[in-house]
Parts: sequence; C-alpha cells; structure tokens
Amino acid sequence: MNDLDIPVITIDGPSGAGKGTIAQMLALELSWNILDSGALYRTLAYFMQENKISLNNFVEKREEIEKRFHVSFDPGVPGEPVRVIFEDKDITSLVRTEEIAKLTSNLAAEPIIRDFIKPCQRDFMKAPGLIADGRDMGTVIFSDAKYKIFLTASVEERAKRRQTQLKRLGLEVNMRSLLHELEERDRKDTEREHSPLIPAQDSMIIDTSNLNPEGVVKEIKTYL
Ligand code: DC
Repeated sequence: MNDLDIPVITIDGPSGAGKGTIAQMLALELSWNILDSGALYRTLAYFMQENKISLNNFVEKREEIEKRFHVSFDPGVPGEPVRVIFEDKDITSLVRTEEIAKLTSNLAAEPIIRDFIKPCQRDFMKAPGLIADGRDMGTVIFSDAKYKIFLTASVEERAKRRQTQLKRLGLEVNMRSLLHELEERDRKDTEREHSPLIPAQDSMIIDTSNLNPEGVVKEIKTYL
C-alpha cells in the first residue's frame, strides 16, 4: 500500500472536546493506528524537563533528542486514556498532568518544536489506516486527509470532563483553576502564529456539549 492510499481521519479541537475518547473508539472499532499528537508534544515537554533541555539549547541537542525520541501509543481500553509508551515505559500518568499541559502549551507555540514534531507525526501513517488527534491534524499535518472532524464543546463542559479524566488518574484538581487554565490554553492555542487551532475548511464540525461519545461516533459514521 502506497502512503497516499492509507486512509486518515483527523480529529481536531480544543482540550476536553472529546477528541481522545472518540479517536480511541474509532481506532478500536476499525483496528487502525492512533496518533495522539497532544501526547507527543507532552512527551517532548516531559523529556525536555527531565533532561534539563531548554529552547536555548534545543538546536544543539536536537540530534541526541532525535535518537531517543520514539513514542508509541496503545489505544488501551474504553474509559481509560490512550496509553503513551516512551523508552519502554508507560508514561501516561506522567504526561497527562496539568503541569505538563501548561509547559506543553508554551512549547507547542515554538516553530522549532513544531518543526521537530512534524515528521514524527507523519511516521504514524501506516496501514490499514490512521486516526490522528490534535489541533492541526486536518489543517497542516494531514491536510491531504479524506476525512476531517473538528470537535468542540462549551468550556464548562470541557473543564468537567478534564476533571473526571484527571480524577481517574488519581489527580485532584480545583474546578476554578482548571477552568481558568483551560481558557488560557485555548487562547494560546488559537491565537498563536504557527498552526493555530482552527477547523479545516473541509472539516465536519460537531459540538459535543450535549452528546455522549456514542452519539458523536454515530454522527461521524454518517459522515464517513
Ligand atoms: O490535547 P492535549 O491537551 O494533550 O495537548 C497538549 C498541548 O499540545 C496543547 O496545549 C496544545 C498542544 N498541541 C498542539 O499544539 N498541536 C497538536 N497537534 C496537539 C497538541
């Protein structure tokens, strides 16, 4: 199968819109590969923090980072987040913290970081197909994808979902600060110069505020 024949479904949208859950459901149902690009950025942020790499010495260390930066995903089981595997370790709960999310949002605005991550993302395009979850999957990374979905939901609903997810990982968070951080991240992600969060022109937009995951998947299947 040639690269161009590999079907890709992109799922973009802000934090908490349901991308992870929907991407996981579709990947499990279709037995396709999954790319959680947010987790890829989070893993890089975590790796940089652990190895005391900053934006200032990123270029100098780039070759070393490239050698070690091999991330894989396991769709896991419904109701639990997609698992992130790095250097043979499951680092899911280490990268899904609010601290790493904040650090990641800052790093993800930097062109050198986006430029580094770009080829890593295209590598996930393997047979029989790929579900790509992120912010710029349909607009930049897989702009050639046949199927593009953009999920959205009210900020209050997204904060509630994020709180439930974090609780499942054993992390307690205050709702007010979660709401504030989510709004701040939304602003950064949509207003940044490079690959801002916007729906691709040819995407199907679904507001998931009043839908359960099954309802969202049903709408997507109708579109497919
Ligand atoms: O989806 P998430 O919360 O795991 O994403 C973490 C951060 O990474 C978020 O601030 C946006 C950024 N991100 C991005 O800039 N581009 C992507 N394709 C995916 C995530």
